[in-house]
Amino acid sequence: MSYTAAMRESIAKVEATREARLPETYPSLEHDEAQEVLRRFHPDYIEERMRELRIGRNKGSRAPVELAEVLEGAPALTRDLVDLERVDLETDVLVVGGGGAGASAALLAQENGAQVALVTKLRFGDANTMMAQGGIQAADKPSDSPAIHYLDVMGGGHFTNVPELVEVLVMDATYVIRWLEELGCMFNKRPDGVMETIHGGGTSRKRMHYARDYSGAEIMRTLRDEVRCRPEIQVLQFSPVVELLTDGEGRVTGAVLRSFESNEYLVVRAKAVILATGGSGQLQYQGFPCTNHYGATADGLVLGYRVGAELSFLDTMQYHPTGAAYPEQIVGQLVTEKVRGLGAQLCNVDGVQFTYPLEPRDIEAAAVIRECTERGKGIPTPAGGVGVWLDSPLIELKHGEGTIARELPAMVRQFARFGIDITREPMLIYPTLHFQNGGLSIGVNGETAVQGLYVAGEVAGGVHGRNRLMGNSLLEITVFGRRAGRAAAAYAAGVELGAISLEHVEAWTAERAEAGLDGGLVAPILLPDYTRHDRLPLATPVV
Ligand code: FUM
Repeated sequence: MSYTAAMRESIAKVEATREARLPETYPSLEHDEAQEVLRRFHPDYIEERMRELRIGRNKGSRAPVELAEVLEGAPALTRDLVDLERVDLETDVLVVGGGGAGASAALLAQENGAQVALVTKLRFGDANTMMAQGGIQAADKPSDSPAIHYLDVMGGGHFTNVPELVEVLVMDATYVIRWLEELGCMFNKRPDGVMETIHGGGTSRKRMHYARDYSGAEIMRTLRDEVRCRPEIQVLQFSPVVELLTDGEGRVTGAVLRSFESNEYLVVRAKAVILATGGSGQLQYQGFPCTNHYGATADGLVLGYRVGAELSFLDTMQYHPTGAAYPEQIVGQLVTEKVRGLGAQLCNVDGVQFTYPLEPRDIEAAAVIRECTERGKGIPTPAGGVGVWLDSPLIELKHGEGTIARELPAMVRQFARFGIDITREPMLIYPTLHFQNGGLSIGVNGETAVQGLYVAGEVAGGVHGRNRLMGNSLLEITVFGRRAGRAAAAYAAGVELGAISLEHVEAWTAERAEAGLDGGLVAPILLPDYTRHDRLPLATPVV
C-alpha cells in the first residue's frame, strides 16, 4: 500500500528537518501549560462524554457514558436459568482471567497451598498482557532506586495515586524481574549479562526492561508455560464468568460461568475469587479504536460492582499517544512507546517537531490531538482520519543502522506488511484507547471491601491514579497478581466453602427498577459490539 502522494510530500518535509532535529532536545511542557493542554484536549475532559452512575455503591460518580451503560446493565442470569443445587466444580481459589495477572495469581495461590482453578473467557493468554510491547519497569540499576521509581509513578499519575499501592508496586518490582527470569523469561541483555534498560515517558531513570518489542508476549508465554507445567492448577478456557455468587450475607463464594462451547451454565463454588479480567478498551470509548484484545469488555468491573465492591478513578482512561493512524487495516494498533524511548520524535505536516516525545502519556496524547485539531497541522488519511508523523528513521541516525531491526522487530513487521519501511519512513500515528486507569478499589494484597473477593491487574484501580506510565502495567499485573494469589490462598485456608446464592442479583434488579432502568444492556457484555451506530469514524479527531 505505502503512502499517498500527499503524505509523501509531507514526509519530504520531515526528512528535510531530520538532521537539524538530531541534537535538539525539545523542552517538556511547564506544569501550567501541560494542565491547560490536558483540560482542553484530553478526551477525559469532554464533559458530555461522561455521566453520573445512577445505581450501585458509586452512585453519583462520574464515568464515561460507555462504561456507565455496562456498569448499570441488567444481569443475564436469573434464578430459573441455573440450578445452584448442581455444583460443577469446587475449589479453594477461583481465578477469573487468563492474562498475566490471572496466571501470576494462580501460580502464587497454588504455591501457597490452595487448590486453584483458572477460568478464562477466550483462550488462556488472550489478554492485554499479550499485546504489551514496550517493557516492564523495575529500579534495579545503581543509578536508580525504588524511591525514585515511586516519585516517577506518583508524578505520572499527577499525585492522585494511592500511595500504599505505589509503594508495594515499586518495592516488589526487582523481585518480580528475578522471578520472571527464573521462570525462563528472556529479557534483553548486554554482552556482559546485565539487563538492558531504556527510558519510557515520564521516567527519570532508564528502568524499562524489555524483550525486544514483544515484552508482554514473552512474559505471558513464561507465565502460561509455568501454569501449564503445574497439573494441580485446573484451567478452563472459553468459559466467561457471567455472575459471582454470594452467601447471601455479602461474602463471595463462587461464580457462574457460561461455556462458550456448550452454552451451558456451570456453577463453581470457591472459598475465594480473584478477578483478573483486564480492561475495557473494546467499549470503544468516544469512538476511539483501541490497542486492547478482543475480550476487553469491562466484565470484571461489572461483576465486582454488582456484588458491592467500590470503583475508583472511573472517569479516567488512558489514550496511548501513538496508535497507528495509517494504513487503515491497523488503525488503533499499538506503536510502542519504545520507539520514542529510542529517540523518535513527533512531527507535524510541515515536518516540525511540536512536543517533547517522552511526556507522560496523557499530556503527549493531548498534545497530538491539539496539533491535529486546533492547530490544523495533522496529516489527513484517505479514510477521513488524521495523524502526525512519528519519525522512526531518526533512531537509526542516533544509534546506528540496524537498531530498528534489532530493537523493534514487531513494529518493522507490522508496517512492512503494508509496504512501509519504518527504518526509512516515519509512521503516521494518532492516540488510541490503551488502558483503563481506574477500576475496583483494592488494598495492597488485592483485597476488596467484599469478603472473599480479590482483584489484580488492569481491573483494579488506584495504583496509577489518573495516568499510568509505560511499563507499570506489566509490573502491576505481576506484583498484584502474586500478592492477590498469596492472600487469597491464606484467606481460603481459614474459611469453609460457603452457601451459594444469587441474592445480590435480585437486589440489583430491584435497584435498577427503582431507578427506572428497566431494559438497557445485558452485562457483562462478554464480546464487543461493533455494530453500534453512535461511533465516530476511526481516527476522527474528537475535539
Ligand atoms: O507503548 C508501549 O509499549 C506500551 C506499554 C505499556 O502500556 O506499558
